[in-house]
Amino acid sequence: MKKNMAVYPGTFDPITNGHLDIIERASDLFDKVIVTIALNTNKKPLFTKQERMDMIRKVTGNFKNIEVDSFDGLLVDYAARKNASVIIRGLRAVSDFEYEFQMSLTNRKLAPNITTIFLMPNEKYSYLNSSLVKELAKFKGKTSCFVPDYVREKLERKFK
Ligand code: COA
Repeated sequence: MKKNMAVYPGTFDPITNGHLDIIERASDLFDKVIVTIALNTNKKPLFTKQERMDMIRKVTGNFKNIEVDSFDGLLVDYAARKNASVIIRGLRAVSDFEYEFQMSLTNRKLAPNITTIFLMPNEKYSYLNSSLVKELAKFKGKTSCFVPDYVREKLERKFK
């Protein structure tokens, strides 16, 4: 397994500035980072897989070592298929801890050779999530401080 390859999984519905902050940090730490959309979560996404992949590709286009992908099934199986020994997760606030702790330890039990690493985004994004951004867009609130312009336009079009 390559030590220099990491996967950054999430729903990314849509990608926000907080996710981008984590991607930027991960991109500095690893030779390659695969930002990957989990398709089998209980969430009902607003954007299709293709739309989400397109937005991630567009807004990470300036990073040379970022790949965009999606997966079904278990995250650790996906990471192993990709030869990645690291899973990146963002920790925004203490409230994230319990859920992330449970996931990380479960994943470690399933695949001891894959390590989860937590990165903290800039504190200005510590309260941000994709649901909040969608709600703002739905009621015509300003989303420009929370998402890149390309994503803002896609949100506006969705709720037109
Ligand atoms: N900035 C802004 N928002 C952030 C963020 C950041 N840095 N990091 C997380 N968030 C938000 C997301 O936007 C999302 O918001 P939403 O709930 O409003 O959509 C929320 O935090 C949850 O984050 P996300 O990273 O999308 O995680 P998730 O809980 O949707 O999915 C997976 C977590 C994909 C890693 C997990 O479900 C998984 O591994 N699934 C595969 C199946 C599997 O292996 N299961 C066993 C796990 S032990």
